[in-house]
Parts: sequence; C-alpha cells; structure tokens
Amino acid sequence: MNMLNTRQQAQLAFIASNAELEVGHPDDCPLPLATLASTDGSEDYVSRVLSGGLTAHVYRIEAQGRSWTLKRARERCLVQGADGQTSFLNEVQRRAELHELKARPELSERLSGIVDTRYASFRRGVLLSPWIDGEVVEDWNEARLTDLFDTVISLASLGLFEWDLCPGNVLDDGRIRLFDFGYLYRFDPLREFNSDGLVSPAFHPIERFETRQFFAWLLSQEQLGGNRALTAFRLEKHIALDRYRHWQRDLAGRGATTSVLDRLDEIIHSWQTSLAGSAEALYLREAWRSHRLDLADDLKGQTCTPLTLQRLAWLHDMVSTRYADLMSSGALAGEVDRRRDALLDQLTLAQTHAMRWQVRQSS
Ligand SMILES: Nc1ncnc2c1ncn2[C@@H]1O[C@H](COP(=O)(O)OP(=O)(O)O)[C@@H](O)[C@H]1O
Ligand SMILES: [Mg+2]
Repeated sequence: MNMLNTRQQAQLAFIASNAELEVGHPDDCPLPLATLASTDGSEDYVSRVLSGGLTAHVYRIEAQGRSWTLKRARERCLVQGADGQTSFLNEVQRRAELHELKARPELSERLSGIVDTRYASFRRGVLLSPWIDGEVVEDWNEARLTDLFDTVISLASLGLFEWDLCPGNVLDDGRIRLFDFGYLYRFDPLREFNSDGLVSPAFHPIERFETRQFFAWLLSQEQLGGNRALTAFRLEKHIALDRYRHWQRDLAGRGATTSVLDRLDEIIHSWQTSLAGSAEALYLREAWRSHRLDLADDLKGQTCTPLTLQRLAWLHDMVSTRYADLMSSGALAGEVDRRRDALLDQLTLAQTHAMRWQVRQSS
C-alpha cells in the first residue's frame, strides 16, 4: 500500500470512528431523511437515475414542487485507493465549509457558481442539492471561460484546490456551476502551490481545466481545421493571464511567500511572452502535458475510453510529424527518454493497453 498523506489518514480515522458530519438539519429536507437515505431509484418521486457516478448513486427527485439532486454514497466506492474511498466524506466536509463560505455576504456572489447544499449527512450517506437545469459545456466561449476561472480561482484563493474539472463535473445553466467536490482538497494558498504542498508546482487551476477537459475539446476544434483551435487557445490564455495577474496581486497583498508569488510570476511571464507571439509553441507544450497526464491517469486506472485513443493518436501524430517543434517548444522536457523512436515505441505500447482497457463511457 502507498504511504497515506495526513489528509487521507485523518479522513480514514474519521470514517473508522462513529462521528457524524452534517450540513444543515434533517428538517430542511423536502422528504423525510429516512426516505432519502433508502432511495434506490424505483420510487415515484425519482424522475431520473443518473449513471456514471463512481462514488455515489445520483438521482433527480421531485419534492415540494421542485427538482433536487440526491447523491447517495455507495457501500463501496468503485474508485480504488484512499482518495476514492474517502471521496464521499471529503465531499461532505468540503460542502460544510462551502456552506459557511457562501453564507458570508462578501463571498456569496463570488461563490454563486458553487451549488447550494440543502442537507448532507455523512453517516446516512445523503447529500441533497437543488437540481441544476443545465447542460455539459459543448463550446467554450469567453463568457463561460471567464465564469469558470473566476470560480476556481476564488476557490483557490480561499484555500480550496479542485483537481477534477472534467466535463461531467461542470454544468452550464446560463452560469457555470460546480457541484462535485469529491476531489476538492484544502491547502494554504499563501504558502503552498496546491494540496500537494510545494512538491508539484505544475498543478494549478488553469492547468487542471486544460488537462481534464479543455484540450480534449481543442482536439475537436483541431479537426474542424483552420486556426480554430489556436484561436480558442489564445482566447483562453488571455483570460487566464488576466485572472492570474489579479490573483497574484491579491496573494501579494495578503503576504504570500516568495516561492508562491515567484511561481505564479513565472507562469504569468511565460504566457505573456507566448501571447505576444503566435503562441504555437505554448499550445504544443500545454497540449502535450494535458494529453500525457490524462493518458497516464487512464492507463493507471485501466479505465480507457475512445477519448484516450484520440489523445494517443494526437501524441503519436505530433511525434511523427512535428518532432522538431516538440523539442524546441520544450514540450518534451518532462520525458525520461525523449528520443523520437523511444517515444513512438512507448505510445504504440500505450495504444495496445488503451485498446485492451476500454470501459463503457462514464462522466
Ligand atoms: N445538482 C445537480 N444538478 C444537476 N445534475 C447534477 C447535479 N449533481 C450531479 N448532477 C449530475 O450527476 C452526475 C454525477 O454527479 P457527481 O456529483 O459528479 O457524482 P460523482 O462523484 O459520482 O462523479 C453529474 O455528471 C451530473 O450530470
Ligand atoms: Mg463527478
């Protein structure tokens, strides 16, 4: 077994204890708590059973004249490892904190993209929120990018780092909404880069968005041809740059350490320099990183999808046709063996695994 970090140890100890953690009061529920806690999807107040949840069963329910989302913990989370096993508790813990933060008048607007929690109980395995009448984002425009970045940077400046910004965890109902906090972890925003402390400077909110979903969407834009993908990427980076400048000033004003400020400075400068030119090298670098990281996750969990194969095809194509550009852009800096043939061999092997480990698509 891997070494557990402090958060995982504390969460596993909490689960082993009999302690309860609640958000709100059972009387706030639109149906009796016992009813909610035993819902299995066959009831007539359940209007939809959502598939895809690995940590929980998710139902749309109708009660008191409106729709709700009921998330019920699975007996055993289908995601292996301590992070998977603690994700429901983690979500209830973060919901409790977000509930308090959202109630603060000076934060309520900034956190309006975070779904409300009507009631949650860790021991009863119940988490109830208003239903978001929205869609998965099919097209990333300026308004949506700005909205999402404002929310995730607000979370980060409050010391909450969201790791899993995948398409299934973002809805658009006119505003961008976040509602799944199974992998939202605490960190010290003035002294740490993210919830790994200071050991992984490469992970930050914009990187998470790019890796977990933006570059998959850009693949589809690349297929549409022309300059669509690069134009969309430049727009995204312009917005990100503006938001990170703000964030850096805010952190400086709050007395963040030089290592935190310098690292953001470095990111800001590299984006700024690239945007002054064509930004093609930056595109290659960020795309390579995004596809590599997501591919590694899929292979590690042996949960591959058609998207895994598309990412692999992109990586393979770039090594075959644009190896010199990859080298000069710095995209390959993190590769152990960056020789062209070695990379092609590695990707071919990865493709064999990715085909063997195809699972049914889930959100
Ligand atoms: N409040 C909500 N309103 C509308 N749909 C929701 C809401 N919460 C979850 N969903 C839907 O249910 C799916 C699974 O919920 P999520 O909280 O992401 O569970 P999991 O932790 O299993 O990924 C989401 O992808 C989304 O489509
Ligand atoms: Mg989810």
